[in-house]
Amino acid sequence: MAFPPAFLDELVARNPIEEVVSQYVNLRRSGANLFGLCPFHGEKTASFSVSPDKGMFYCFGCHKGGGVINFLMEIENLSYPDAVRALAQRAGMTVPEDEQYQSRYRQQERLWALCKEAARYYHTQLYAPAGAAGLAYAQKRGMTKSILTKFGVGFAPDSWSGLVDAMRAKGYTDQELTAAGLVSEKNGRVYDRFRNRLMFPIIDVRGNLIGFGGRVMDDSTPKYLNSPETLIFNKRKNLFALNLAKKSKLGYLILVEGYMDAVSLHQYGFDCAVASLGTALTEDHATLLTRYTEEVILIYDADEAGQDATRRAIPILERAGLRVKVLKVKDAKDPDEFLKKFGADRFRVLLEGASNRIEYQLTTIAKKYDLREDDQRIRFVQEAAELISTLGSAVQREIYGGRAAEAAGITADAMKLEVEKAWRRRRAREKKRQERIDLAPAQALRPKDRSIRYDNMKSAMAEEMLICLMMKDPPLSDVTGDLTEADFSVPLLGRVFAQLKSRHDQGLELSLGVLEGLTPEETSHLAGALQRNQGPAREEAARDCAAVIREENRQEKDGSEESLLALRDRMKQRKGVKS
Ligand code: GTP
Ligand code: MN
Repeated sequence: MAFPPAFLDELVARNPIEEVVSQYVNLRRSGANLFGLCPFHGEKTASFSVSPDKGMFYCFGCHKGGGVINFLMEIENLSYPDAVRALAQRAGMTVPEDEQYQSRYRQQERLWALCKEAARYYHTQLYAPAGAAGLAYAQKRGMTKSILTKFGVGFAPDSWSGLVDAMRAKGYTDQELTAAGLVSEKNGRVYDRFRNRLMFPIIDVRGNLIGFGGRVMDDSTPKYLNSPETLIFNKRKNLFALNLAKKSKLGYLILVEGYMDAVSLHQYGFDCAVASLGTALTEDHATLLTRYTEEVILIYDADEAGQDATRRAIPILERAGLRVKVLKVKDAKDPDEFLKKFGADRFRVLLEGASNRIEYQLTTIAKKYDLREDDQRIRFVQEAAELISTLGSAVQREIYGGRAAEAAGITADAMKLEVEKAWRRRRAREKKRQERIDLAPAQALRPKDRSIRYDNMKSAMAEEMLICLMMKDPPLSDVTGDLTEADFSVPLLGRVFAQLKSRHDQGLELSLGVLEGLTPEETSHLAGALQRNQGPAREEAARDCAAVIREENRQEKDGSEESLLALRDRMKQRKGVKS
């Protein structure tokens, strides 16, 4: 569905791209632009740029780009109309639209509201007679009234229809209850999915209630029942308690395995704790964390499974550009038990001693080998050298190299040689990777997408530049004369030209952010073009571009005749005939 162009102009104007992006990415100003870590691909150096004046973002690493609407579509995985709706809501604008149109965003809003009602119901039940067992269990686990309130912990009574009845009374349909994952279905009848469980509401970073985790109160299985994947709940993309932890002033985030661990940490004052939702850590989780912090402290369960998960999580977090520290609780199976046994002060001591991931990994590697055996010692040295060579600072390499040498019973010099060898190998690998990245812009100039392909480079460059000039200085649209979409060699650029021209004629804005009907690839491609075509907007430049486009198009059209004429001319010259 199309939105009125003037509405889109106002929408884009009232949602400055730097403000919207800042909700997801830590941005630092550098000149006219702002830079940060790209939220769309894992990286350690900031190649993601935002230009407030152009109203666009562009990543020099992965070449994604676009305006504010495109950004929201990408990062929240929304359709175009839903991104527009979300931005309208953000700016307090009313969307002019057909009431019949039930968008994904509308459906989401309805499910968020339903889950919130369900959470209210569960929370009320916790203090009702039907919830006595739940409250007793929560108290047995040491949860205070204020933490129960803060997390909105609730209780699902031991009933087949408690929630169903309460939600129907609020006007929700069985179909909506199913879509929210709150009920199960049998023979066409729905019944409560969560029964006789302590309920932990899961809230996303925008504050929407998206699902639940429900714990049994004894040793029966499954211990936890989570909401199924729904339109609003994706456990690979959300983290428990991040809605609270993102406001922490502690400067780092603590990542734990269990809901109970996260809740306990908050109760004991570590308000920066988050937990994954019963899945292994994903790249999406890591990227989500980079929105709010640069440092993550991993505190998984002390058992073998927890330590395995730790080893797998470290590289995922590091690839996203996070600093990783690892802490292993002693004399307790998890952070929750540790806090209850030893208290917050002892835990703080533990936190201060949280080793960086190098110490942790060196210990882990050492444990893999029997260092009394020569061949195993050699393998330990090689693996340790590989690890130490990843360290950026010479001092660090010296310190940890020394430590590894000592463990292996070799001299510090011998270890240093091994580290240098590993470092050179790594450098060679990284250089190759960098070369691939450096080559990428040239490849971006020759996109594979049919509508973007540049077959006539000369014309394509002029087309690109003209469009960029028009966006820079809209009055330049007037100097293009009778140039039309059909004169363009690149279909995409022709379409964009036509849109810009028509917008200009209606007195509307010209910027990347207001263009409609483009695919993400096309938008990214245009953002790249805008990035390449810097420099001032001059009238002659626009006229030149228009002339080149017209001329190239003319040559292409009567290309065959032209070359025949040229051929005849040359033959005449060779024969010495004067015409
Ligand atoms: P407590 O035993 O009460 O301390 O629970 P916990 O929150 O510390 O959980 P635990 O360490 O046993 O497990 C870690 C996380 O894995 C939980 O918070 C859940 O997210 C998830 N999990 C555990 N058991 C199950 C299960 O049976 N099914 C599912 N889907 N997830 C589970
Ligand atoms: Mn636990």
